[in-house]
Amino acid sequence: MTARRQTNMYLKTSGLKLSYPLPDGKALAILNIDNFGIDKGMTVGLMGPSGSGKTSFLYCISGIERPQEGEVWWGDVVINKLSPIVMDRWRQKNIGFIFQDFHLIPRLTPLDNVLLPAYFRYSTPSPQIKEHARGLLKRIGLEGCNVNVEKLSRGEKQRVAIARALIMSPPILLADEPTGSLDHSTADAVIELLMDICRENGTTLIMASHDHAVMSRLSQVYFLYEGKMFMKGDRDV
Ligand SMILES: Nc1ncnc2c1ncn2[C@@H]1O[C@H](COP(=O)(O)OP(=O)(O)OP(=O)(O)O)[C@@H](O)[C@H]1O
Ligand SMILES: [Mg+2]
Repeated sequence: MTARRQTNMYLKTSGLKLSYPLPDGKALAILNIDNFGIDKGMTVGLMGPSGSGKTSFLYCISGIERPQEGEVWWGDVVINKLSPIVMDRWRQKNIGFIFQDFHLIPRLTPLDNVLLPAYFRYSTPSPQIKEHARGLLKRIGLEGCNVNVEKLSRGEKQRVAIARALIMSPPILLADEPTGSLDHSTADAVIELLMDICRENGTTLIMASHDHAVMSRLSQVYFLYEGKMFMKGDRDV
């Protein structure tokens, strides 16, 4: 069941409150964001000190976490009001997520990890999708790498995670510190790839990062601080 929303922004959150339960029964407040919105096709950066809630925010807007209060709209859908099954289907169709800690499946090759979303969607990936996966691996410098992913370096794992997020050409790409394990020149090449793909496909990108050079390439940068969201320039962090 969905309701119509008030504005024409692509992502809009309102009254977002997220806390995590503590062992003593109290709650640790993480996010308390009145209103936040971005337009379709924007490339948005998210900065903030470690522990400020960047990953938690990305989890809320992807439906991985459900905020205790508020709404998360993508287009005309309030995703945090969807049932778990409908939410999973919505996420599979709409979101590519580059996890900060990769979430790769051990004992599978990079190619099979990249193809996982295609296996979930189609059971048997088409030859075209397999070709697309090989093309992405080539673009991130891992063409022909047949070693199971647990043997790869952190930087190689990160690149596999990036290719996996891109395989289904999702309309929304959420990237959680996608260059955190990469050297400068590999990071540059990966950001170039992400920006090219966003431009080619009109993808909406939200990227958490501590890297100012990466942030300077995005159309808008926000800061999370003490649970609140600030547009760059609102405060110095
Ligand atoms: N499942 C959880 N249960 C309890 N506390 C959590 C949970 N997940 C995150 N936290 C806490 O919430 C706070 C925000 O965490 P989060 O991972 O969102 O921060 P972050 O801004 O992404 O940090 P970093 O830059 O280090 O990645 C941290 O204090 C973290 O310890
Ligand atoms: Mg994080």
